[in-house]
Amino acid sequence: MNQSLPGVRVLLGVSGGIAAYKAAELLRRLRDAGAQVRVVLTANAERFVTALTFQALSGNPVRSSLWDEAAEGAMGHIELARWADQVLIAPASADLLARLAQGRADDLLSTLCLATAAPLAVAPAMNQQMWAHAATQANLAILRSRGVQVFGPAAGSQACGDVGSGRLLEPPELVAALAAARAPGELAGQRWLVSAGPTYEDIDPVRFVGNRSSGRMGFAVAAAAHAAGAQVTLVAGPVALPTPHGVTRIDVRSARQMREAVLAAVADSEVFVSAAAVGDFRPAAVAPHKLKKADGDSGLELSLVQNPDILAEVAARSPRPFVVGFAAETEQVEAHARAKLERKRLDLIAANEVGHELGFERDDNALLLLWPGGREALARTDKGALAQALVARIARLRAPQGARP
Ligand code: PMT
Repeated sequence: MNQSLPGVRVLLGVSGGIAAYKAAELLRRLRDAGAQVRVVLTANAERFVTALTFQALSGNPVRSSLWDEAAEGAMGHIELARWADQVLIAPASADLLARLAQGRADDLLSTLCLATAAPLAVAPAMNQQMWAHAATQANLAILRSRGVQVFGPAAGSQACGDVGSGRLLEPPELVAALAAARAPGELAGQRWLVSAGPTYEDIDPVRFVGNRSSGRMGFAVAAAAHAAGAQVTLVAGPVALPTPHGVTRIDVRSARQMREAVLAAVADSEVFVSAAAVGDFRPAAVAPHKLKKADGDSGLELSLVQNPDILAEVAARSPRPFVVGFAAETEQVEAHARAKLERKRLDLIAANEVGHELGFERDDNALLLLWPGGREALARTDKGALAQALVARIARLRAPQGARP
């Protein structure tokens, strides 16, 4: 038998929901894949399934209470948290996801998730309305930003009679997803440098020239590269986003600070992705005090000077990394982007149309990837999915000619 999880110590958490019955089959499949499994049930899971089933199938005692005197005499929850190579919660109910997002430790399973250093994967299962609810999606976004893997859910008919997203993935699919998530990523051993967000160019101590970039596109690229195994440094302009799990972040404010941070890190990087919306101009001088308007003033003239072009400077280096630029265009997207690709001597450019309700400050986007001799249009979808496709394209272009699919 092909064992995809040989010797992996999996702590299987089961929360309360009708899909809990599938966790027994999942346990068998995990063992078939070579994993050692210990099971923790929440109090609500015990309303759907019995500990005895899981004890018989796992060959280990099943735990459900943080207040089990026999086990906790020797700090059993800490021992269990240290034992695990991997925590998998299937099914993960909406309530459990909310408690994990809040970092609660009010029962054994949530406490273990805080106490373990092992990676955590969750397989959500719930009614389709509960899945689509903004609160559930916000909790998932928090968990994803902390590096929690989310498997599924699938769409289809539900036990409650509804049809939609929220079904637990089938046990073989869950085992395959877990094995894939644990395999060393395609970019293992590579160092990537990503820039993201706007730059702020100060006018005086309270005002600046900036732009509408939220940083979401660049942060998604950093997260996708890390998820594929790369060691990622993210140079971020002023944005209000959490650092993607596992990524090293350097915060900057102005274009000149961003240039310094990028040049300090680029010599060590195999790939540079410039997703930042770097300000092309800055005020010629920063006023030391807040500019006052005097009676009779009808306007203010601001004198601007050009900022360095960080991307062009990196592309002109020798040796240089694989250089990827973005092009934010409001018209003739492909023609302008292709001209930038050639003028700045880039390896790849990701063009997007920006403007009112396009590109900036949104969760979705559409990209046109252009490289010497090739193009790929990526249809509008969320920035996470686009970032994965961009990272995959970069990996393919960098692969030795013979190995390129
Ligand atoms: O941050 P979000 O809200 O998610 O929005 C995403 C985005 C629209 C900002 C992103 O997808 C994007 O297009 N980023 C690049 C924006 C930009 O500055 O485009 P540009 O066409 O002006 O610049 C071309 C390239 O040169 C870019 O890679 C830019 O990082 C780089 N550049 C530009 C000027 C400069 N002085 N130095 C640079 O390095």
